[in-house]
Amino acid sequence: MHSVEQFRDLQREVTAWRRYLHENPELDFQVHNTARFVTEKLASFGINHIETGIAETGIVALIQGQGGDGPTIGLRADMDALPILEASNKPWSSKVPGKMHACGHDGHTAMLLGAAKYLAKTRNFKGCVALIFQPAEEVELPSGGLKMVREGIMDRFSISKVFGMHNAPGTEVGTFSICDGPIMASQDDFDIVVKGRGGHAAKPHETIDPVVIAAQIIVGLQTLVSRNTNPIDSLVISVTKLNAANAYNIIADHVEMAGTVRTHVPDLRDFAERQIMAAAQGIAHGFGADIEFKYRRSVPVTFNHTQETNLAIRAARSLVGSASVVENIKPRMGAEDFAYMLEARPGAMIFIGNGPSAGVHNPAYDFNDEALPYGIGYWVSLVETLLAA
Ligand code: NI
Repeated sequence: MHSVEQFRDLQREVTAWRRYLHENPELDFQVHNTARFVTEKLASFGINHIETGIAETGIVALIQGQGGDGPTIGLRADMDALPILEASNKPWSSKVPGKMHACGHDGHTAMLLGAAKYLAKTRNFKGCVALIFQPAEEVELPSGGLKMVREGIMDRFSISKVFGMHNAPGTEVGTFSICDGPIMASQDDFDIVVKGRGGHAAKPHETIDPVVIAAQIIVGLQTLVSRNTNPIDSLVISVTKLNAANAYNIIADHVEMAGTVRTHVPDLRDFAERQIMAAAQGIAHGFGADIEFKYRRSVPVTFNHTQETNLAIRAARSLVGSASVVENIKPRMGAEDFAYMLEARPGAMIFIGNGPSAGVHNPAYDFNDEALPYGIGYWVSLVETLLAA
């Protein structure tokens, strides 16, 4: 049994770290200063097994328990910020115009550092904890989590289970939420070029107007969701980009469109890839046009494993009590590259309440420092539950 009060004296120090990271955001794999900061802190806690430079700027550090032999579990935090101009008006706002920690990865990093300090001092567990600090969660493929997995961290450090945590704006500080199975969606992207025949806008009959055809494709794709997908399964197809001619009096000879596909059902990615192409092609051919089609698979479904989800729930409950842990939230449609680590090893990702803050990726967002002792406490509780000496 743990109490959040045990972690209150760490709160002030970890808050200072969090605000330092917030003031100094870095993007994608270029989190050099952040990684240096993390490494220095870990070393100052007396952690002597620290490997840097994994996936360019990622770090894995090992803390051995005092309770004898046991498995190694991985705890993961992300370190990168977003290319957003901050408008939080906080005293610790970003010092770098156009970059900000708008997803709370500053908080995630600070909480794992706080837990590292506590665990390195107490070592009240068996086996080993692998602290995973990853770069480039927010980028296009290959992202930092994928790269760290590809560089073999799971085998190299004998990690048997892996756990992640993300803040959740709009849920109360001191609460946790999670679900078994899919918790975040997969993300795939597609590009379609509709190739018609351009001409004068006053003589449409002499053209094959790709704009009208593109419009039908956009509507047609929504039909794949509403008429061809089991309504119980989640699927989002959004056309997000549309580019044609740049004049009032010209019918374009082609239209470029692009969009994204999100789902919690892995099989629906195959369905989407196949049927988006078939629908776009069928509609285009019907009107004498042709298409080019590209489908790029990005992040897979973030899939929480049952046994590890139950462990996460137990750890959170032991910290804040059952009433503050929601165990069956609806999965979210966003994507998270921790999914790759959950493909490599069983584990679970949990959400931690961030209070009534602006949403993530919003210029007014800020991580809530009141959540820090809860996040630290969760990590410690998880380690001491799972690796009970
Ligand atoms: Ni994030």
